[in-house]
Amino acid sequence: MIKKCLFPAAGYGTRFLPATKAMPKEMLPVVNKPLIQYGVEEALDAGLNQIAIVTGRGKRALEDHFDISYELEHQIRNTDKERYLVGIRRLIDECSFSYTRQVEMKGLGHAILSARPLIGDEPFAVVLADDLCLNPEGDSVLAQMVKLYNQFRCSIVATMEVPSDEISKYGVVAGEPIRDDIWRVSHMVEKPKPEDAPTNMAVIGRYILTPDIFEIIEQTSPGKSGEIQITDALMQQAQQGCVLAYKFKGRRFDCGSAEGYIEATNYCYENFYLTGKAF
Ligand code: G1P
Repeated sequence: MIKKCLFPAAGYGTRFLPATKAMPKEMLPVVNKPLIQYGVEEALDAGLNQIAIVTGRGKRALEDHFDISYELEHQIRNTDKERYLVGIRRLIDECSFSYTRQVEMKGLGHAILSARPLIGDEPFAVVLADDLCLNPEGDSVLAQMVKLYNQFRCSIVATMEVPSDEISKYGVVAGEPIRDDIWRVSHMVEKPKPEDAPTNMAVIGRYILTPDIFEIIEQTSPGKSGEIQITDALMQQAQQGCVLAYKFKGRRFDCGSAEGYIEATNYCYENFYLTGKAF
């Protein structure tokens, strides 16, 4: 059973400066909820209630968000404003939160490795909170992946097709089809030039990883941008054993870009806020 979900959240969020100068990018609100709260909701929906967060300097707001604010609770007790806190209270009640700090920014692979003491020797999920994934009609993207893990018992990356002029923003996979929505990965490359991309199947910020990934990351040399890339470690894991690429059902918004963030905001406003499902 997978119980743990890891949120790498140590990055600087430079694309949203100056908003992210003193505030973690994971706290940027999409309408009324911070990005990381959508991610934790998705994890809990998939049955993962042990939340591990990799933080860094200037990220205190993340810990405060997933904690009780006695002053605020006292202020709004027995008023109609209490309903605004129902969702976050549920997360605080039903999940445990543990934190570790990534002291140096050496890439996503390194951030994941730094959470090893929180994860231990068990399979776990990884959510990059600036990829907001929504599937209101069915299982959340993580829930879909947990089901697949229970069947195949190996690492899984969520993928989607992207136009070739956008491929260089992503990790890219190629492989042999197993089902019309699953491939056994044979090749992975981080942020290739369009002409070097093996396919247009881009990895998005949802992973399930088996714990042998930690040993592999330790052996992984810095790759693209001089950083330790999870993509390179997964390529190694695919060669040693098995990694699956899964074409998920649902929508994904790239909230690391202004366009994706605005699109997500409009979507959540119409589908959740106006319909009273936003809290
Ligand atoms: C990271 C990964 C990349 C993946 C992307 C998904 O890149 O390194 O392989 O495709 O997330 O959002 P980042 O966007 O953090 O640069």
